[in-house]
Amino acid sequence: MSENADIHAVCELLGKANRVAALTGAGISAECGIPTFRGEDGLWRKFRAEELATPSAFHRDPKLVWEWYDWRRGIIAPVEPNPGHEVLARWEKIFPEFTLITQNIDGLHGRSGSKNILELHGNIWKMRCTEEGTVIENLDSPLKEIPPHCPSCGALLRPHVVWFGESLSSTILQRAFLLSSQCEVMLVIGTSAVVQPAASLPLSAAEAGAKIVEINLNPTPLTPYVDISFTGKSGEILPLIDKNLKRKS
Ligand code: APR
Repeated sequence: MSENADIHAVCELLGKANRVAALTGAGISAECGIPTFRGEDGLWRKFRAEELATPSAFHRDPKLVWEWYDWRRGIIAPVEPNPGHEVLARWEKIFPEFTLITQNIDGLHGRSGSKNILELHGNIWKMRCTEEGTVIENLDSPLKEIPPHCPSCGALLRPHVVWFGESLSSTILQRAFLLSSQCEVMLVIGTSAVVQPAASLPLSAAEAGAKIVEINLNPTPLTPYVDISFTGKSGEILPLIDKNLKRKS
């Protein structure tokens, strides 16, 4: 189908839907200049995940790990959310039930006004005390102290993100699977759909009868299973869909 026909088809679906979910990945923030993980200039092409994004890497060299997260925070801090983020924030207000599930830790969905966000992999602007487990927000860029320490007990703070080999929060994950299985339409935006358990969410939504709409620059392992697939930039395609949705309503 042509892009226009696809836009028309997705607006038909969204026009009838009350429960809509969106799953996002690094691709939705790529147009802000934030590197993805597996793309051409992806982080995992330049850095070894096992040296920077695992509990043993942090145990071995917390300073090195924090220097890397401080560098990533420095890339994210000055950028603004793009039109893709903004459309999803607007949809949260227009659909009776809208769930935003993100793998991104950059915090840009929150900065664009989305409130109802399930951050599967944590948030780079939050830190967790390695002793007490308390989570604090810290927006300093650059960090004043590397590695940072807990203001209440003085223990080492770690990034409040999910590292390779770690489990996701069971509360957040259960809620993500529940809402995915209840949605009528799920949009899958800017994710390579290879990292579990996030990559299973669209499949469980489809099993429960939802229509799946994918927006990605490239085909992914999910593409053969979706109902409508857009090949292109989410920061361009989401506003197009939104414009037609507004016209339709
Ligand atoms: N618009 C839409 N899609 C895009 C854009 C764009 N402007 N730019 C890139 N993409 C797509 C790429 O084609 C790719 O499929 O975004 C996807 C990014 O994939 P990854 O880099 O693998 O990122 P993601 O899927 O979010 O990774 C999942 O892996 O490394 C871990 O914890 C990390 O949350 C991350 C998880």
